[in-house]
Amino acid sequence: MEQAKRPETMERITTAELAKAFIDEQVGELRKQIGDKKVLLALSGGVDSSVVAALLIKAVGQQLVCVHVNHGLLRKGEPEQVIKVFRDEMKANLIYVDATERFLGKLAGVSDPETKRKIIGGEFIEVFAEEAKKLEGIEFLAQGTIYPDILESEQGIKAHHNVGGLPPELNFELVEPVKLLYKDEVRVVGKELGLPDNMVYRQPFPGPGLGVRCPGAITRDRLEAVRESDAILREEFAKNGLEGKVWQYFTVVPDFKSTGIRDGKRTFDWPVIVRAVNTKDAITATVENVPYELMQHITDRIVHEVKGVNRVLYDFTPKPTATIEYE
Ligand code: XMP
Repeated sequence: MEQAKRPETMERITTAELAKAFIDEQVGELRKQIGDKKVLLALSGGVDSSVVAALLIKAVGQQLVCVHVNHGLLRKGEPEQVIKVFRDEMKANLIYVDATERFLGKLAGVSDPETKRKIIGGEFIEVFAEEAKKLEGIEFLAQGTIYPDILESEQGIKAHHNVGGLPPELNFELVEPVKLLYKDEVRVVGKELGLPDNMVYRQPFPGPGLGVRCPGAITRDRLEAVRESDAILREEFAKNGLEGKVWQYFTVVPDFKSTGIRDGKRTFDWPVIVRAVNTKDAITATVENVPYELMQHITDRIVHEVKGVNRVLYDFTPKPTATIEYE
């Protein structure tokens, strides 16, 4: 398929005025392309799909059907925020599918990282296709493809992650309104569309979600410990001015226990590993120098608020030799 090329003369969208002009132009284009037909969008709550949703709501309102699939591996509060922002505030036509049991059931006992990823990706397409088949009159599929996705797929770095895999009977025409934009431009457009800052300036989050931060076979209790400790870390980074400054930060709960002590009694619980890294392109990464007092405070909160955890460790390893994620 012929891929779109960004014209060399295209100005970088850096200001609210430029974003506004882009939005006006795209709204016109989208109305022309979609007419009175319906368009479907898998809305993850990440920056790209959220901006595409907001653009389409502006352009075609109720003709857009968003599907938010909760695979059970999202961060604390994420599905709730998607529902609040898009259904309650933007009045979008949003289908929320809680597929947690389905995903965790399929993942039970699976410890190989690539197999875990395949199960999550495959199941996601299946759930989305099932929802699409229930709907009538959909002719378009919207996607949050951005320019780096096109460049990377051209260079063979990664297969174009969108479209691939939808069953052939779902023969939709594609709608990709931000496909010529770089990530920073998508954020400027999102801000101008009125999306909340914590959605627009969100740190990268992998498709397989917390699943890759629960190394080995995922168990519900360890997954809960990852989710709760991640929420504490994000809250403390936000309070202490590190949100938006550190490129990516998260917690991992490895599959081993160690001895500890609580209220004079022996415990045998998991450690939480904190990781905070900076990078430009995710190919190499350096470790953030988090203030010692802040790490002490985060440690204190995690060991007292997260069930089943008795230690907090900090990962000092750059990429290479480590990768950013643990799987
Ligand atoms: P690594 O661990 O390879 O991560 O150093 C580099 C960046 O890619 C993200 N990442 C993923 N994103 N699906 C995604 O959508 C994945 O399977 C995946 N694995 C890693 C990671 O969060 C980091 O930003």
